[in-house]
Amino acid sequence: MTSYTAGEPADREMSSDRECKPLPPVNSLRTTFTMRKRITMNAQKSNIAVAITEPIGPDGDNVIPEAGEQFVGTSQVKDLTDRAAAYLAVGYSVHFAGAAGTGKTTLAFHAAAKLGRPVMLIHGDDEFGSSDLVGRDAGYRKSRLVDNFIHSVVKTEEETRSFWVDNRLTTACRDGYTLIYDEFTRSRPEANNVLLSILEEKILNLPSLRRTGQGYLDVHPSFRAIFTSNPEEYAGVHKSQDALIDRIITINVDHYDRETEVLITMAKSGLPMADAEVIVDMIRNLRLVGVNNNRPTVRACIAIAKVLAHLGATTEADDATFRWICHDVLAGDTVKVTRAGESLMPKKVDEIMKKVCRRKSKS
Ligand SMILES: Nc1ncnc2c1ncn2[C@@H]1O[C@H](COP(=O)(O)OP(=O)(O)OP(=O)(O)O)[C@@H](O)[C@H]1O
Ligand SMILES: [Mg+2]
Repeated sequence: MTSYTAGEPADREMSSDRECKPLPPVNSLRTTFTMRKRITMNAQKSNIAVAITEPIGPDGDNVIPEAGEQFVGTSQVKDLTDRAAAYLAVGYSVHFAGAAGTGKTTLAFHAAAKLGRPVMLIHGDDEFGSSDLVGRDAGYRKSRLVDNFIHSVVKTEEETRSFWVDNRLTTACRDGYTLIYDEFTRSRPEANNVLLSILEEKILNLPSLRRTGQGYLDVHPSFRAIFTSNPEEYAGVHKSQDALIDRIITINVDHYDRETEVLITMAKSGLPMADAEVIVDMIRNLRLVGVNNNRPTVRACIAIAKVLAHLGATTEADDATFRWICHDVLAGDTVKVTRAGESLMPKKVDEIMKKVCRRKSKS
């Protein structure tokens, strides 16, 4: 007789291989195939093949996001997260799209925190295949038990166990977690195909688990996904599938407003408001120079402010320390703006620094 049984205690009692541990920290399904052979005195044999699918948990591979002390919740931040929360509440998944340093990942975490569910985090990767998202077979283990407890009966039992290891997407779908798929367009579009049926039909297709009756998994009603992405023209970013974009709601994010940037700079560095304002005004002015007005980002504000606070320097145009910090932090952005082969930006930085500092001393 051949039968497939999902996790029956009686079958588990028969097994000799109880000590196998799941691979931490991922959630696992353990599938056990047991072939039992009973040889009695009159040489009658009985063979039973049994498959056991044993879910192993809890997985502990999730995070519970919470706003830290440095989190800044201005009306702009609230507006963006409220919009995301409205879409998530009615069952849609949300996508924050925008240039580097516009706060997408932070907003994704904040929106996820508002849902109050554990969060699974995935970072897009060009090397990803679908199995990196959903899971994979993680090998086999064979064991043999010879039982001659009653001298007239020899019972042999052979068991082959295959291990299936869930990856984070499967765990999130199964347990109704929130998935943050950060920079999902860094994965190749075909690796993300598995998301199409999750988002539309609310079914996760797991072909490798078909034999155990787990080939399709109903997505938990609390499951939500929050995506972030950079523009397609960025290095290492793939074009996203139209079908995926069609299933999610995209919120385009731009640089934060001045108030938010000033408060973030203060929160991250501990600098007083007047100094944070000088730095933020400089950066916002520099964004208007050249063709790429996405750089420098608020990260440059934070970096300049942190080093300044650490050294106890001031935001005065004639403070040599302030000047070299700005030149160094902005070097990565400024080399791209050249005239006759020479970088324009050190001059621009000095000019804008003087202009902004003059304004500060007048006020
Ligand atoms: N609301 C906020 N409160 C405090 N800090 C913030 C807030 N939003 C963003 N930041 C800070 O601004 C910086 C940029 O934010 P974040 O990393 O979220 O941007 P991003 O758009 O995901 O950038 P990238 O595209 O490069 O990944 C980070 O240092 C982050 O901590
Ligand atoms: Mg990010």
